[in-house]
Amino acid sequence: MSISRRHLLTTAAGAAAATTVLAPSAPSAQAASSVPAADPAETLQTLRAAADYAVTKLRAVAPGVTSFPVITKAEKWTYSDNGDWVGGFWPGTLWMAWLHSGDARFRSLALAAADRLAPRRTDTTTHDLGFLFYPSWVTAWRLTGDPKWRDGAVQAASSLVKRYNSAGRFIRAWGALNDTANAGRVIMDTMMNLDLLAFATEQTGDPRYLDAATAHARTAQRYFPRPDGSTPHVYDFDPATGAPVGPGTVQGYSPASCWSRGQSWGVYGFTTMHRRTGDAQFLSTATKLADYALGALTPDNVPGWDYLAPQQPYDVKDSSAGAVLACGLLDLAAATGRPSYREAALRILTALATTCLTTRSTRAQAVLARATRNRPAEDGVEVSVPYGDYYLLEGILRVLRPDDVDRAIDLSSV
Ligand code: GLY
Repeated sequence: MSISRRHLLTTAAGAAAATTVLAPSAPSAQAASSVPAADPAETLQTLRAAADYAVTKLRAVAPGVTSFPVITKAEKWTYSDNGDWVGGFWPGTLWMAWLHSGDARFRSLALAAADRLAPRRTDTTTHDLGFLFYPSWVTAWRLTGDPKWRDGAVQAASSLVKRYNSAGRFIRAWGALNDTANAGRVIMDTMMNLDLLAFATEQTGDPRYLDAATAHARTAQRYFPRPDGSTPHVYDFDPATGAPVGPGTVQGYSPASCWSRGQSWGVYGFTTMHRRTGDAQFLSTATKLADYALGALTPDNVPGWDYLAPQQPYDVKDSSAGAVLACGLLDLAAATGRPSYREAALRILTALATTCLTTRSTRAQAVLARATRNRPAEDGVEVSVPYGDYYLLEGILRVLRPDDVDRAIDLSSV
């Protein structure tokens, strides 16, 4: 894509103009193309108001936060001291608030929050190190230039790469390295942890990290997508031989269903892996997953928690799946040159901003309501989660301040 075309696609106004001057929309993004485009100026105003609201909320709440928000209970944050799998999103949200507001207090709070994650650099018991260290430490390195953050992020990548199973060519999701339970369990979420490995290779020149990430993405690409582009949450392998066992689920309705946040992780993760490797297959997989999600999206543009749960389209929502999907679609629009993905992302972000914010609550500590953490476990249904707030802000700023988001998280391609 040429610079001018890429630039055109980085603004909402450009997206509207692009529909008339660029190639036709992807035929498969039916849900996206069947709804008339909103007025671009109104869309930008809605998104700016949502980002302003987030900053106001964070100004009030953040000074009192000394740990890591995990989920809300009756609209108030509950916390984890070590960050659980979500500890990267609080500093990440503060970085986004700093980029949008320029308020130096957010920068200080982001650095202090990132610092509290330091003990997790050597954690080899989880695949979540990308979620933990990319929006926090990689962003801190990119925005401050202090090598402490780069070195710590590379250390975290070194912990993550130990989870690579060379027989199956995948990164195991859960469990300590010496724990045989879950040793062959692969989950869609891991696609989001691969960029930390790409970062480590870029910084060190050691290909081992990106090689493991690429091999994992190829394995996921081979086994997760069904012919219609839907995906299961989990795929199990024999950890000794690497032989495929079959699909499963933990957070979705069933092994045959399509957990919406997992699908969003896939869209975002495969698009990122395409940018980091140039591998066209990853882009085609991201497109397939995105087309399925857009075809399954309800007309309110907020994903249900599982696209194939039996009560769909009237089941509970997961706004966080929408926020992650919107970020992935914005990236996918730039990578494919298809404006329909950007239009769909804008519709989702607008829906989140107009139907899911906590604006009318005097109690709420989060920005985005209506997320669902784990419906099958009845654990966090239509609540707020830190990844909802983070990806909502990332998505809105990808539209309003693409250069700043690029500075923070690196949107470049190989
Ligand atoms: N990575 C866990 C989740 O998305 O809930």
